[in-house]
Amino acid sequence: MLDELPVTSKFLAETSSKSQSVSGPNRYYEMLYLIGLGLSSVEDITVRGLKVVQKCARVYLEAYTSILMAASKEDLESFYGKEVILADRELVESSSGAILEGADKVDVAFLVVGDPFGATTHTDLAIRARSLGIPFEAIHNASVMNAVGACGLQLYNFGQTVSLVFFMDNWKPDSFYDRIKENRKIGLHTLVLLDIKVKEQSFENMARGRMIYEPPRYMNIETAASQLLEIEDIRNEKVYTADTPCVSVSRLGSSAQKFVAATLGELAEIESGEPLHSLVILGHRIHEMEIEYLLDFATSKAKFQQAVEAELDTAKAMQPPTQVEEDED
Ligand SMILES: C[S@@+](CC[C@H](N)C(=O)[O-])C[C@H]1O[C@@H](n2cnc3c(N)ncnc32)[C@H](O)[C@@H]1O
Repeated sequence: MLDELPVTSKFLAETSSKSQSVSGPNRYYEMLYLIGLGLSSVEDITVRGLKVVQKCARVYLEAYTSILMAASKEDLESFYGKEVILADRELVESSSGAILEGADKVDVAFLVVGDPFGATTHTDLAIRARSLGIPFEAIHNASVMNAVGACGLQLYNFGQTVSLVFFMDNWKPDSFYDRIKENRKIGLHTLVLLDIKVKEQSFENMARGRMIYEPPRYMNIETAASQLLEIEDIRNEKVYTADTPCVSVSRLGSSAQKFVAATLGELAEIESGEPLHSLVILGHRIHEMEIEYLLDFATSKAKFQQAVEAELDTAKAMQPPTQVEEDED
């Protein structure tokens, strides 16, 4: 695809005049574009997204909530043929003025891995643009929120998505537990998104005011499963157990994509490899076609099938008895 870039650039140059605005019919004003990059390669950007990037005066890459599986900032720069500015949390959340500056006079692109409104949304930036009278437009793309369907679970059967952060000795936030409880009560699957820590300072460096950052950390499946079980041990409401059937979702959308269907206890013991990862806790309303698809990813088909059947039996046992009309005849 890189070889084809000159052709792409020529095409873009021909179509980027104001009278043939790429931002939609009758659009001729400059604006902020929130552009989804998809999940993996530089080529996952949509054709419309690429056209817009090519005409923007400044291009920012949101660099703290997700990463592309198979492309770096430098790869993006050489694909677009222009500079890409990394936007860390501080820039986006506290100094967004720098991003929005002049976005009513020149086009500015804000690139987001996945979809701009997938999982962590960037509505904040959109609201700030709106309050400054800067028009904005979103150009959508695949997100972990929908691509997770590739594991065989139907998106219609998912409940609330939850996030799991890295625990510390004295800080183990567990609000996800109640959300999972609500989902499981009505039999829905739960997508668990795992913590990413970038540009974090150690306590020592922070205390000494040294702007030295720790290497980035991405939560893996084994840590996620262990932390989930740790909270079940503490709360003990049997929302899930080590026997609950789950699916690990690794490097979604890339050539190294991998799913593992196993119990939560088994997932606490696997080696999930390179990031990024997500995890799905199955709900009892699972359809037999979902089960059939998942079995291909099972570490042990028999054991996984057993875990799913136990899950269905427990759900049945918890249902209120059917009312029998006594005086029907
Ligand atoms: C805050 S969400 C960002 C979502 C992104 N804007 C999107 O629409 O996909 C980031 C989390 O989603 C999950 N995730 C994102 N991309 C993934 C991938 N390619 N494979 C597995 N999990 C992924 C990981 O748990 C990651 O920590």
